[in-house]
Amino acid sequence: MKIIILRLGHRPQRDQRITTHVGLTARALGAEGMLLASDDSGIGKSINDITERWGGSFYVSRTKSWKSEINKWKNSGGKVLHLTMYGMNFPDVVGEITTDNLMVVVGAEKVPPEIYELADWNVAVGNQPHSEVAALAVVLDRLQTLHGNEPLKTEFAGGELEIVPARAGKEVKSR
Ligand SMILES: C[S@@+](CC[C@H](N)C(=O)[O-])C[C@H]1O[C@@H](n2cnc3c(N)ncnc32)[C@H](O)[C@@H]1O
Repeated sequence: MKIIILRLGHRPQRDQRITTHVGLTARALGAEGMLLASDDSGIGKSINDITERWGGSFYVSRTKSWKSEINKWKNSGGKVLHLTMYGMNFPDVVGEITTDNLMVVVGAEKVPPEIYELADWNVAVGNQPHSEVAALAVVLDRLQTLHGNEPLKTEFAGGELEIVPARAGKEVKSR
């Protein structure tokens, strides 16, 4: 299983928090990394800080050309799923979608129209407008569980801290 995220249309003034949440959600639910089509270096820094403390090998790479990233991905045999409320509703296409070498494209502002043609699947998590973070979480969860993986059990090697799940209170141990 290999899933990466491509975040498009990030506006440094408006989207810092939500793009960080896209990355953190991707990391927590088992994606390998996030390509960020922006020169905003703050996002990578805050997500890398989390990875240093909490483990795993999630990466954030900035890219100047989202289109060449998609073409490179497709030329090396990868598939592209674009999250859009205008797409095919996820339950109707989920059976076609692979988790081997899958790039999930997540928009912020209006996405370039070409993306609809470049994607192998334009997928809606319900055909109603909502949030990229919610859409990404549902897709990562459902796709992986369907393929026999439990994303909520992703292991995060290394790091400084580990949570000991508790029915009450907080327990965190140092590694
Ligand atoms: C908050 S929306 C803004 C969309 C923008 N106004 C447009 O027309 O494309 C930002 C991103 O959230 C995701 N999104 C929002 N609702 C969605 C849905 N129902 N299904 C899938 N993705 C969704 C899409 O990736 C979209 O690009």
